[in-house]
Amino acid sequence: MSAAQTQLAWDTMLDLGGPAGSPLHRRLAGALRAAIETGRLAPGAMLPPTRLLAEELHCSRWAVTEAYEQLTAEGFVEARVGSGTRVRAVPRAATLAEHARDARAAAGIRYDITPGMPDLAAFPARDWMAALRTAITRATAEDLGQPRWGGHQRLRDVLSGYLARVRGAATSAASLRITTGIADGVGLTGAILYRHGFRAVGVEEPCWRRLPRVLAASGLEPVPIDVDADGLDVDALASKQDVRAVLISPCHQYPTGVALSPQRRAALLEWAQRVDGVILEDDYDSEFRYDRPAGGALQAAGPAHVFLYGSLSKTLAPALRLGWLVCPPHWSGEMRGDALAPYTPPTLDQLAFAAMIQSGAYDRHLRRQRVRYRRRRRLLLDLVGTCLPGVRVSGTAAGLHLLLHLPAPVNTAAFTSRARDAGVSVMTLGSLRSVDVACDDALVIGYGNVADADLPGIVRTLADLLQSSV
Ligand SMILES: Cc1ncc(COP(=O)(O)O)c(C=O)c1O
Repeated sequence: MSAAQTQLAWDTMLDLGGPAGSPLHRRLAGALRAAIETGRLAPGAMLPPTRLLAEELHCSRWAVTEAYEQLTAEGFVEARVGSGTRVRAVPRAATLAEHARDARAAAGIRYDITPGMPDLAAFPARDWMAALRTAITRATAEDLGQPRWGGHQRLRDVLSGYLARVRGAATSAASLRITTGIADGVGLTGAILYRHGFRAVGVEEPCWRRLPRVLAASGLEPVPIDVDADGLDVDALASKQDVRAVLISPCHQYPTGVALSPQRRAALLEWAQRVDGVILEDDYDSEFRYDRPAGGALQAAGPAHVFLYGSLSKTLAPALRLGWLVCPPHWSGEMRGDALAPYTPPTLDQLAFAAMIQSGAYDRHLRRQRVRYRRRRRLLLDLVGTCLPGVRVSGTAAGLHLLLHLPAPVNTAAFTSRARDAGVSVMTLGSLRSVDVACDDALVIGYGNVADADLPGIVRTLADLLQSSV
């Protein structure tokens, strides 16, 4: 390649514009970073030797060396003695966050505080890639064949130990099935219950609307049961003669954030025994409790009647589509064969998750995230206390969301559409009910996927809107 051709290539590749007056080594680092982030410089690509690039860009070699060192420190490139500087294959989490920000900006949304998302910028990309590498390295020819229904044996063994240790669950590899998420596991259970004569299922009111829809698609009629400060109203459930199944999120009810009281836990288990019924336990975010150690799963106290569901959607990322269900021994035989085929995630992802648990990287990630979310929740509460007088906060110190109850004359639903116009996407409690109830509405604030630095701007926007609403 001639010098002229090379110069043209790097000149075209690198936009050395940068902020006026900023030193060349910074502009060069910025241009290389942008080329890597946008994929114009692919993982594994070699950067030119410093002397060559300096010549081509008519700058000092020192400026190029400084730029390379900066990018090495940031993890974009790696320098090996004797073999030059190469673009690293590690996707930066910040890039994921930036993509999300761009998508929101395109929709006119500056801040998205709708609940449900974990901190995607904190996705442990390096740990996941290391785990995938381990999985691929150890994979046998059989592992690369058709996935086994119900999940790979290694993940079932490892996850079973994890759930017993962390959630107190009564489980074994035999009772554990790997699914593509909680919603899919609940759908599968709904179909099996229907085959066994169940026709109705109690669901919390309010709740995550997707799950009643999934159960309805299996043929079961969702029957709303109220939730109060102690969780699901078990007496109301027991009064429904035809209902022998109930779906519940006992550790951190979604969306009210209450925990099922010990008395109600006991009453619910007693009900299940009495009616020979089943409890579908949605254990969606129980890894995150901030004021005390997380309470154990309800399943631990009644494994004969409780199906327990979990997934990676809150701990790592919903995109992985990896979850599990623990079924009562009596139902275990139903969860097999063709029925499970659509519910099985890719084997290599299953093996990567097993490797991540075994190496301790999953526990470490959860510990880091607990610290991060606890701090963010505290910051949010402080800002609400200072900037939003008259607003009541509710919800257990757990999970990834809390509730803000606006003062009496304010119409919460109307407030959210004004918030949206102001660039803040937020959800109401009312939208998660099966029927319209004007009273007792609230904002459901998701703080999982929000940058700490954005919280003051978010709360200030809400405070301004509130002031002009009363
Ligand atoms: C209450 C509740 N349960 C379960 C889930 C997770 O479902 P899945 O594992 O299917 O992604 C969510 C996700 O938003 C949720 O809000």
